[in-house]
Amino acid sequence: MTRRVALVTGSARGIGRAILERLAVDHDCVVHGRRDVDAAQEVARIAGAAGARTLVVTADLADPDQVADLADQALARFGRVDTLVANAASTVFRPLAGLAARHSRTTFATVVDSLVELVHRTAPVMRPGGRLLTIGGLDARFAQAGHGLLGGAKAALEALTRSWAVELGPQGVTANTIVPGPVRTDSLEIYLDGREDVRRLLVDHTPVGRLCTPADIADVAAFLVSPAGGMISGQVITVDGGISAQGGPWGAMRELW
Ligand SMILES: NC(=O)c1ccc[n+]([C@@H]2O[C@H](COP(=O)([O-])OP(=O)(O)OC[C@H]3O[C@@H](n4cnc5c(N)ncnc54)[C@H](OP(=O)(O)O)[C@@H]3O)[C@@H](O)[C@H]2O)c1
Repeated sequence: MTRRVALVTGSARGIGRAILERLAVDHDCVVHGRRDVDAAQEVARIAGAAGARTLVVTADLADPDQVADLADQALARFGRVDTLVANAASTVFRPLAGLAARHSRTTFATVVDSLVELVHRTAPVMRPGGRLLTIGGLDARFAQAGHGLLGGAKAALEALTRSWAVELGPQGVTANTIVPGPVRTDSLEIYLDGREDVRRLLVDHTPVGRLCTPADIADVAAFLVSPAGGMISGQVITVDGGISAQGGPWGAMRELW
């Protein structure tokens, strides 16, 4: 089988890394990070050991020129992208009253504008079987103190993905959003800041009794981009061990913080 080509944003660590390493089995891979070249090269080495040809690109997705360069480098190296995974995100977590327009500009540039530009540059050369996968967040659906800005950007990302499913479907391309619950990554650890009581609350509110791992998200991503996922499009697939099924612990968390 011919290898497909995957571009996974934010694939030097966390969820993006787990997804890229899973896709490396049958994709050539563009590994992308913001600035940690060593981490990105280590991921590329692992993908290479799985048989993938690789390209490492560093780019700050808040900068439109660097986003364009990321897409251009991928297309120059491989000629096309078959599987685009928009995973990278960053924001400031603070109450809305403490936010200024410059904060929303940076968050929306990173999460939304970069996605629009990457799709603009790669979708025209996607072949039938192409896949667009975006990584959302429960904060798009549940109000959580301090998460309003990221929640707004992730809500936009979901809506765009749904529209692309309609527009790209006739081209044989599917588009879906995976919404993870709390996942054990560096960013979760920074967020928890050692608060074991909050970690315990999250686990206690998760029906399956543990937090997600990056591998849990990568398993679902691998299925969606496989031929078996070909009839799933325009969907938001929540992978959270059931934490959102009862509305989540967000109200109780407010008492703890
Ligand atoms: N972890 C969770 O609990 C959780 C839950 C729900 C949704 N999510 C979503 O899942 C995705 C991955 O999260 P994660 O926990 O794996 O995060 P992570 O460990 O913090 O990794 C985020 C990745 O995105 C990259 N990135 C962030 N801002 C960037 C920018 N401006 N330009 C370029 N790259 C940038 C980071 O690069 P650098 O390392 O170089 O900065 C890193 O590779 C995010 O969209 C997040 O919102 C995570």
